[in-house]
Amino acid sequence: MTTTLLTGIAELVTNDPSAGDGSPLGVLHDAAVVVEGGRVAWIGPAARAPEADLRRDLGGRAVIPGFVDSHAHLVFAGDRAAEFAARMEGVPYDGGGIVTTVAATRAAGEVDLRALLRARIAEMRAQGTTTVEIKSGYGLTVADEERALRLAREVTEETTFLGAHVVPPGTDRDAYVRLVTGEMLAACAPHARWIDVFCEPSGGHAFDGDEAREVLSAGRAAGLGLRVHGNQLSAGPGVALAVELGAASVDHCTHLTRADVDALAGGGTVATLLPGVEFSTRSPYPDARRLLDAGVTVALATDCNPGSCFTSSMPLVVALAVREMRMTPAEALWSATAGGAQALRREDVGVLAPGRRADLTVLDAPSHVHLAYRPGVPIARALDWTDSH
Ligand code: NIG
Ligand code: FE
Repeated sequence: MTTTLLTGIAELVTNDPSAGDGSPLGVLHDAAVVVEGGRVAWIGPAARAPEADLRRDLGGRAVIPGFVDSHAHLVFAGDRAAEFAARMEGVPYDGGGIVTTVAATRAAGEVDLRALLRARIAEMRAQGTTTVEIKSGYGLTVADEERALRLAREVTEETTFLGAHVVPPGTDRDAYVRLVTGEMLAACAPHARWIDVFCEPSGGHAFDGDEAREVLSAGRAAGLGLRVHGNQLSAGPGVALAVELGAASVDHCTHLTRADVDALAGGGTVATLLPGVEFSTRSPYPDARRLLDAGVTVALATDCNPGSCFTSSMPLVVALAVREMRMTPAEALWSATAGGAQALRREDVGVLAPGRRADLTVLDAPSHVHLAYRPGVPIARALDWTDSH
């Protein structure tokens, strides 16, 4: 197999504490990487780099593990710009607009939906994302949910069945939960790795604790891993349920009680924060410091969706986490890479070390600090192996 030696790396973030300066980011300066067959074969100081078949000079840039965006809703048609504009004039976000996207997505043809999805993936790669989780949830019929997951499976292994996104209008709640946990789950499980549920205290558009427990239990029985949209709009049962059932991640975590923080600290569930949502809904940010100080594993993701946050940009999320949630640049980068990998229970991404996937993101900057220091500037891109530098 061909080996490629990458040089000209001013700063290499590995997320492997044993590799670099001993910090969680495992930073090496003046580093080199050898890649073979899409995997990292060697990492170390440029001065000690071995020979390789090919050589690429990255020109003194920083290299980080590709972003792991562990929460995105990319299979949809239409947009909700008018809802956003109304929100900026004071209309609060409550998830009620989801049905607008459901109607547009059902009406879209498969060819168009695939093209929209692929364009969004390309947009993410161009900003440094190399792994993305994709949820269904804008179909809400057996055929439309199955179609969304089939399309998502074409572009990622990380597919999530979110039939329990909202109760479709005019549908009996109990009947819909039976559909999601029965026929819809059976049709979708073959295309999905995970099941997710939008859980809010009194249900409303979403699902209450008892309904969410039913959905997650059925998903687990069908062989799916568990994820939860929890504590987004108010403090509710989502976090406690996620930890109790051993979910890989509970996402949003905007409104937490002390008991929620204690549960997360004592459990094996990652808290995934989505600060693009608070930015785009003009809501108070989650208390990242409280979680970090309690020893909770925190991930960062975009939640890219047409309603609560239509950004595909992990660099924006990192900048928001630093500026608005008081995470350090190092903490935010770790959460956007290794943290996302833990939220997806992936060992092969999020960390650069021999044997792991060579998913490299190059920054047009000498250090990772520039991700937050230069907000809005497109400095990150996934390394394209057909690129010439
Ligand atoms: O993660 N909370 C529920 N679902 C999405 C928003 C979906 C939408 O508004 O279209 C979220 O914020
Ligand atoms: Fe979401």
